[in-house]
Order: sequence, then C-alpha cells, then structure tokens
Amino acid sequence: MVAEPTRLEWWKTGVVYQIYPRSFKDTTGSGTGDLPGITSRLGYLSDTLGVDAIWISPFYPSPMADFGYDVADYTDVDPMFGTLGDFDELLGEAHDSGLRVIIDWVPNHTSDRHPWFLESRGSRTNARRDWYVWRDPKRDGSPPNNWRSVFGGPAWEFDEQTGQYYLHSFLREQPDLNWRNPAVEAAMFDTLRFWLDRGVDGFRIDVAHFIMKDPDLTDNPRAVPSAGEADFKDLGDYDAWEHVNDKGHRDVHAVFRRLRSVLDEYDGDRFTVGEIHIFDWDRWAAYYGDGDELHMPFNFSLVWARWDAGAIRSRVEALEAAIPAFAWPNYVLGNHDEQRLATRYGPENERAAAVLLLTLRGQPTIYYGDELGLRETPIPGARLQDPWGLRVPGMSRDGCRTPMPWTPGPGHGFTDPTVEPWLPFGDDAQTRNVEEEFADEGSTLTLYRRMLRLRRNRTSLVAGTIEFLNGIPGDVLGFRRDLGNERTTVFVNFADEERSVDVEPGAALLLSTDHRRTGIGSGRLTLAANEAVVLDPGGDRRPI
Ligand code: NOJ
Repeated sequence: MVAEPTRLEWWKTGVVYQIYPRSFKDTTGSGTGDLPGITSRLGYLSDTLGVDAIWISPFYPSPMADFGYDVADYTDVDPMFGTLGDFDELLGEAHDSGLRVIIDWVPNHTSDRHPWFLESRGSRTNARRDWYVWRDPKRDGSPPNNWRSVFGGPAWEFDEQTGQYYLHSFLREQPDLNWRNPAVEAAMFDTLRFWLDRGVDGFRIDVAHFIMKDPDLTDNPRAVPSAGEADFKDLGDYDAWEHVNDKGHRDVHAVFRRLRSVLDEYDGDRFTVGEIHIFDWDRWAAYYGDGDELHMPFNFSLVWARWDAGAIRSRVEALEAAIPAFAWPNYVLGNHDEQRLATRYGPENERAAAVLLLTLRGQPTIYYGDELGLRETPIPGARLQDPWGLRVPGMSRDGCRTPMPWTPGPGHGFTDPTVEPWLPFGDDAQTRNVEEEFADEGSTLTLYRRMLRLRRNRTSLVAGTIEFLNGIPGDVLGFRRDLGNERTTVFVNFADEERSVDVEPGAALLLSTDHRRTGIGSGRLTLAANEAVVLDPGGDRRPI
C-alpha cells in the first residue's frame, strides 16, 4: 500500500502549517500581520511546535477585495505585508531552520486591477482581450449562460464600455483568466518560475480545477440532491446547479502535466497541492495523474464529515481505495475558508481531532491557531470584513481568520497594544494564547507539541500502512500503522462516555489527549469520553 521508505520526499514525511498572513504577527503596528512577523516566529514553528513546512496564504499586491485572492501582480509583495526582500529573508531563515515554504498561487482569476485585465477590458481588439473570458450578451441583454458565482449572483459582469460580459467565478473584482489561450499559460508559468528561482519549495494552487471550463460555455444543469450531500457545506444558490460545465473540464489535466514539467525543471522536490473541492473520489484522484500532474489534490472529505467513527472511517477507506499506488494521501481539518474545527466538531472533540489528523496515513496540514484550540470567533456586523459574508448572510469566513493570540494582555503579542487589529480576538484570548498554553501541561498546544514530537520519532506514523480494527465499539475508531517491525495503534473515542477496547497485554501508552493518563490496564483499555490514545502494542518488549 505504501512505497518503501528508502527515500521519501519532504512533502510525504512532513507536517504542513498554514499561515494566514494578515493574522499571524504584525511588526509595523498596522493591526494586520506581515512577512517579517512570520520570520520573527519561525522558531515557534520549527522548534516549539515542530512542524516541517509552512504554507503562506497570498501576500501579493492586491486591492484586497478578497484579501489577497485577487492578485494585481504575481511577482511582488503587497506593501502591507512587506517587500520582496522581506520574503527572501523569510525564505532564507525558514530554510536555515529546516522549514520548507509553500506559497499560494491563484491561477483561475486575477484582480480586476491587474494590468492584464485593465488592458483586456480597454477595447474588443486589444492584444490581451482574449486573456480573459469575454462574450456577447444574449439577444435580450442577459448574461451569456446560467453560470453562478461562488460568492453569489451571476458569474458574468457586463462591461458598458465594450458591450460584452466577462466571466468571474468568484467576485466581479476577480475576472477569470482564459487558460485556453497559450499566452496566458506561458505568462502564468513564468510567475511560477519567478518564485521557484527564488527558492520556494512549492505551491498551493487556488481552486485548481476551475481553470478549465467547457469550451462552448454550455449551461449547467439543475442539481439533483444525492445521498451524503448534507455532509457538505451548503452554498445555497450555487449548490442548486450541477457544476459540470463551469469548472473541472478534462482539458485541465493536460495543463497540470505541463505545469508539473515546469516544476521538474528544478531540483529539491518542489511540490504542488491543488485546492480541489470534488467529492467524487475518482474524479478527485484523477488530479494525481500518472504521477505527472499535481503531487496531491487537497483532501477536504473530513472537513464536513460528521464527527462520527463510521463516517470518518468510510471516508478514509474510500480515499485509500481511490488513490493509485504511487499517490500520497493528505488530510485537512481546517483552513481559512472553514469554521474552526473546535467549533465544528465541538470543543470536547478538538483534541481527539488533533490526534486523528496527525496519525492517519498521509500529509497533515494544520491551520494556524488550531494548535491552541481557537474557536470560531463571532464577529459583530459592523466589523465584518469578508466579501462573501457581506454579500451572502451566514457565509462570512472572518470567524476563523482572527489574529493569533501569542500572549495575554492588550494586543496579545500580535500587534501594538494600542492598535485595533483588523479582526477582533476571540473572547478567550486572555487564556487561550501561546504563552499561557506553553506553560500548561493540559493545554491543546502541549498536546500538539507532544503529538508532533511523537510523529517525528515514530516512522510507522509517518510512512506505515493503515488498517482499521474491527470488533471494537461502533463509536470508537481504531487503526494500526505498521512499518517494518514498528507498529503503532490509535484509538479515538467518539462517544461522550467511556468505552472499553481490548489491547495487547504488553501495550504501552505513547500519548493520550488526557495528559493525566499515565498508563493503560493490562489487556483492556477504558477510554474516557472523547479521549484519543496512541499506543505501542508491544511496548514492554520494544520501548521507544
Ligand atoms: C479559494 C480560497 O481558499 C478562498 O479563500 C478564495 O476566496 C477563493 N478561492 C477565491 O480565490
């Protein structure tokens, strides 16, 4: 099931940590985080926490209509975040600390202020007109087809000056590039080379499957409700349509094969992970190609799964069955678009979720602040920032993007104490912060630190096979990871009450979500409500 670990690339063995740069650390007193702020906290990431790579959400020059996912220049840094020199310093220091750096790349759309779009919208005949998707109105003046924007409303905006509509799958300030034009592909691949030349280790590709649409721009059919649908996020009007024509056209695979060959021009195991919200496993797994497309598509299947042993197990088994033998799985439980996991799964489960994330087979990505157990922060209406939330009530993503609390006290070590941060801190920041949690044996931060250390010391957790255990209570998930002679067993109790499972007589405790647990009984283990444990089943014979 898994390649022999003779040489596993860093992106297979490592744990990735996502940083939303606006919210990590402010060094200028602007109330918004910046690149030097990240540099100043690299020691926290590499040593205190112990992750292996960071993914930084966009920091490009941008009007910030979608907080950086509207890029006005792919080869520079927005002054709000610093300078290219600051980026080089961050990258150099990260590499010196043994951290890899992945940056966001946003190929589907630019900002409407990008010089390419300004030129494109200038006239019907200019050289860059075809760099975006322009079409005439229908006879009655309405948009060219029925496609909807993810953020609400039609996916078309009428341009008075030239009398045509342009396509925007997201905000009207984010016009879609026309990837069927080879000049667009060439220009965008050059932006990859710009960062690869500087030394970045990889890219997270924003809405990767969106870049190729049906060439005839055929209408989308109405959606047919399907089993399991309720497990996923309801996008309202957008979900009323089957998105078969406005994204994920099969021609996308040829683009990713060419993109892969750009990365392969470079040494050092450069890496790509695509943001791909597809929940049909075969279509999703197709983005691995024959090992010649993306290194992996992000796996969001657990994000909206119920916190339920059976639901989680069936998704993991479906993933394992869907991916080709060479492919490496990955898991994500939180990011800048989703409700905080501590709120989504319930605060009583966030610690078990951490153990699950870091023990399943595959690359885990931790979202900044989840290691503190940050909750979704309610944002008062007057302070809402997210354009999606401002357009569609209930869709705001601000609550998971609040500033990282480093210390107790005003400013929480994130910004100057006299400055109002761009989003408010959570109510519990006085106690739920890095300084307090570092000193607390029972904190979520301590659990993550221990779990990450354990993972580093236990190759079966990194590269072993995974096999689920049967004959245990239905609300307990049990699995083992095997590599050579090393075996690790994991139990996660999803019940709000105790559950007992059989274990090998000599099994030894490696870690529990309950820091007060010192061991396990011989042959039988009683798990506390919502507890997760990691065991060495042959612990008395092979102590670590
Ligand atoms: C996905 C990103 O994760 C999200 O934050 C952004 O708004 C959209 N893509 C549009 O770029």
